[in-house]
Amino acid sequence: MTIETLDDLFLHTLKDVLYAERKVLKALPAMERKATDPKLKEALSSHRDETEDHVVRLEEVFEILGKPARGAKCDAVVGLVEEAEGLMADIADAETMDAALISLAQAVEHYEIARYGTLVAWARKLGHPKAAKLLKETLDQEYGADRTLSKLAEGRLQPEAHLPAAPHGGRPCAGAASLR
Ligand SMILES: [Fe+2]
Ligand SMILES: [Fe+2]
Repeated sequence: MTIETLDDLFLHTLKDVLYAERKVLKALPAMERKATDPKLKEALSSHRDETEDHVVRLEEVFEILGKPARGAKCDAVVGLVEEAEGLMADIADAETMDAALISLAQAVEHYEIARYGTLVAWARKLGHPKAAKLLKETLDQEYGADRTLSKLAEGRLQPEAHLPAAPHGGRPCAGAASLR
């Protein structure tokens, strides 16, 4: 499609995000299976449920605009998913895998937050308050997923009393703490 106006750009970005959400929906089950930490498994699983709602909300937005809910290939999310698949294939250790899954999932959330933040602003500017409300609901859930992942990551980075004592009474190195 030719993009000449902000309306065109809004529609194009909605298509981009619809493609991205569908792609993420397909990628999440494999990430869930690879996770070992029950809290991480639960976070990925509940965000998969939310992602199904994100697709439905986007379909509603297309309906409001009177346009077919058709995705447009989003190269950014294709890259993120490819990177995730490649990294997951290279990691054998469960603890390291969990750390990788958190970072990979957060990269996707940050991408979605950027896109939905823009879409909410454009929907308001273009006079689509109902669409803006729907997009904002999804944006808030993306922020929520990001916060949950941050908490999991921070929990993993806390040095714990049961870590083996560092030689010569020194402090355990940051790497050991992050991979506990
Ligand atoms: Fe989403
Ligand atoms: Fe998300």
